[in-house]
Amino acid sequence: MWFLLASDTEAMIPRTIIEPFRIHSVEPLRMTSEAERREAIAAAGYNLFSLRSEVVLIDLLTDSGTGAMSSEQWAGIQRGDEAYAGSPSWYRFEAAVQELFPLPHVIPTHQGRAAEKILMTAIGGPGKVVPNNTHFDTTRANVEATGAEALDLVIPEGLDPALEHPFKGNMDLARLERFLRERREDVPAVFVTITNNSGGGQPVSLENLRGVRELCDRYTVPLFLDACRFAENAWFIRERERGQAEREVADIVRDIAALADGMTMSAKKDGLANIGGWLALRDDELAASCRNLLILTEGFPTYGGLAGRDLDAIAQGLKEVVQHDYLRYRIRSTGYLGEGLLRSGVPVVKPIGGHAVYLDARSLLPHVPPLQYPGHALAVALYEAGGIRSCEIGTVMFGRQPDGSERPAALDLVRLAVPRRTYTQSHIDYVIEVCAEVAKRSSELRGYRIVHEPLALRHFTARFEPLSG
Ligand code: F0G
Repeated sequence: MWFLLASDTEAMIPRTIIEPFRIHSVEPLRMTSEAERREAIAAAGYNLFSLRSEVVLIDLLTDSGTGAMSSEQWAGIQRGDEAYAGSPSWYRFEAAVQELFPLPHVIPTHQGRAAEKILMTAIGGPGKVVPNNTHFDTTRANVEATGAEALDLVIPEGLDPALEHPFKGNMDLARLERFLRERREDVPAVFVTITNNSGGGQPVSLENLRGVRELCDRYTVPLFLDACRFAENAWFIRERERGQAEREVADIVRDIAALADGMTMSAKKDGLANIGGWLALRDDELAASCRNLLILTEGFPTYGGLAGRDLDAIAQGLKEVVQHDYLRYRIRSTGYLGEGLLRSGVPVVKPIGGHAVYLDARSLLPHVPPLQYPGHALAVALYEAGGIRSCEIGTVMFGRQPDGSERPAALDLVRLAVPRRTYTQSHIDYVIEVCAEVAKRSSELRGYRIVHEPLALRHFTARFEPLSG
């Protein structure tokens, strides 16, 4: 007998975690030579955002809107109903959002920053201060655009790239309390970003969120989530927080949601869609004023800035993103990249984040001072060597101050963001190989200077020049 009956043996528990899908349509990659890439990046003013994506081999610029949709999501695209008002796609979208985040007002937007812009226009303004564990760049820009101040209060462990801590995205509760005690009148909302993207894709614990909620109650300040990667954060809670290991991720998400008065969301991340977002709120009056702003720039409240088909793709994405097989694969595949890099001696932020691996450029390039942008130098080198597009998260992104001066960011990182369900293990093995090669000759890399920059969000359009030896 060549098969075994189940009762004859223990069930086999495989050690290999595989992609819980197979490939349904493929998109060819164009191979380029190093000479071609050097020419392309020079012509782009050494700004990776200015490259044509055809000359990029493995695009790890962002995990935002770059994932592969499932066959059910594509079916949803067909099902999409384009009625201007009250489309069935809208009701499916609203129900899917409220299944996880039972907030009474859901306001669809074309992406996360549109939700931020609307909310900050309603609650921001000169003299106000918005605390957050760490503001993402668009969130910071939207706070500052109203004349308000964006204050980052992540725990000190969150700023030390080499330190292991299960929840490095946590808010520093003592500093938040001190701040609220002094400035409560100036704080329109406290934000928590899950996972903490600018701090290394690190999660926030349920316990910490409860602590923030308590302080918000004590000082009567609303608590908002920047929830772009809520499912990844909930998976980390399940894996790392006491008492959570047996729970459904969807239930953990609902626990998180119950703590919040509102949320901004980019469906381009854990909505598993290529576009979309929303603002959700508890407060009726605030929701009414946000809907008025929505109509000015995004659209009617049952579609926001989206087509009906997009609403359906997101509704289905929200069902898939909390599935355990998906999240196990997702977090493991990011971990695989990070562990491969560590084994090759490349310094990365530890522990490995959910959606990305962050290379510690300041420690890999100690000879390049922060104001010569070590993260940028490393990112350009990865592109030239292997066609890998990454993103500097450091002094280029955060160094320019509102008063026009410049100072080093807290960290100089290079983010390798992993698009969802898009690349296979061999692509990732290639990335590890290229990074290891570049790291070996990192002492040869030189810094950059900025020759042109806009007033805000300079990393998108600045032009650079390499500094000579
Ligand atoms: N908040 C966080 C934490 C984000 O990571 C992003 C986007 C946004 C808000 C804004 O959402 O792009 O839909 O307008 N992050 C992308 C990234 C761009 O590459 O990390 P959006």
